[in-house]
Amino acid sequence: MLVGCIILGTRYYEVDLPVWHFLGGGKGLDPTSLHLAGEFVESNLGTAENPDGSFTVRMIAQQYLFVPQCVVVPAGVPVRFRITSADVAHSFNITGTHDSIKVVPGAVSTATFTFATPGEFDVPCNEFCGAGHFAMRGHLKVVPPSQFTALRGDERRSCEAR
Ligand code: CUA
Repeated sequence: MLVGCIILGTRYYEVDLPVWHFLGGGKGLDPTSLHLAGEFVESNLGTAENPDGSFTVRMIAQQYLFVPQCVVVPAGVPVRFRITSADVAHSFNITGTHDSIKVVPGAVSTATFTFATPGEFDVPCNEFCGAGHFAMRGHLKVVPPSQFTALRGDERRSCEAR
C-alpha cells in the first residue's frame, strides 16, 4: 500500500485555545480535572457518531499512554480528532504517515483525517514527555463503515473489537 494513499483528508492540525489564554487571565481547560466534568470525561472518550453523521474521536494524552489506548474508526469518511493532555506536551503520530498532532495541556488539538482503507496503525508519542516517552504508544483500527456501525460504544474504544 502506498503511504500517500492511507489518509485522504486534512494533514494539518489546529490547537483550540480559549480566547482568555491570549488575554493572560482566566483559566482554560483544567488538565487536572478532565475526568471530573466536561468533554473529556471517561464516558465521552473514544469514537462518537455525531447527529449529522460525521465522527469525532476524543482522547487524552498523559504520561505515558493515550486514553483510550485504542480507538476504532470507520474508513472512507472524515473523522475529527479532539485530543488534550492531562499533564505535559505529547504528540499523536500516525505511523506510516507524516501526520502528527501536537497535544498540550489546557487546550484541545484538532485534526480531521479520512482513512482510505481499513487497516491498523501504531500511534507513538512523538514529543519527548519524560522517562516513559519511548513506550508511549496508542493504536488506531480502521474498519469498513458497515463493521463500525455494528460495534457497541465500548467496542469502539477497544482493540478487542471484531
Ligand atoms: Cu508522550 Cu512522549
